[in-house]
Amino acid sequence: MKKIEVIIRPEKLDDLKKILSKNEYSGLTVMSAMGCGHQKGFKNPEFEKLGLSINLLPKLYVMTIVWDEDLESILSQMVEKLSTGSVGDGKVFVSDIEDVMRIRTGERGRDIL
Ligand SMILES: Nc1ncnc2c1ncn2[C@@H]1O[C@H](COP(=O)(O)OP(=O)(O)OP(=O)(O)O)[C@@H](O)[C@H]1O
Ligand SMILES: [Mg+2]
Repeated sequence: MKKIEVIIRPEKLDDLKKILSKNEYSGLTVMSAMGCGHQKGFKNPEFEKLGLSINLLPKLYVMTIVWDEDLESILSQMVEKLSTGSVGDGKVFVSDIEDVMRIRTGERGRDIL
């Protein structure tokens, strides 16, 4: 199994959810986030109004676990649907997941995803 951590523009959440549901995944975790990448953010006028001098932009952090064999196709669909071609589209971090357990039943392994 692979963990996919995706940091996206907030307005792209629906598109990301569509990609996952099309691939028959229903589980995901979403967190509101602030961040910057290569451009190191920029002075956000909204923060300046509040007197904050941080150069971070609002993003969403989405975490989902998928089967190894679905990874490449899902990554391709993300490029296709989530890229606007402008800086700040976000990044995807992929890592290995050893096991998963459903707390309600104690069931383990990839079949419970
Ligand atoms: N190396 C990183 N580690 C952790 N989070 C990152 C990293 N790079 C980017 N992010 C997160 O992803 C968000 C979007 O990054 P962004 O799309 O600007 O990346 P980039 O590398 O600058 O690409 P681009 O040139 O297309 O803007 C950031 O706001 C931050 O939350
Ligand atoms: Mg950037």
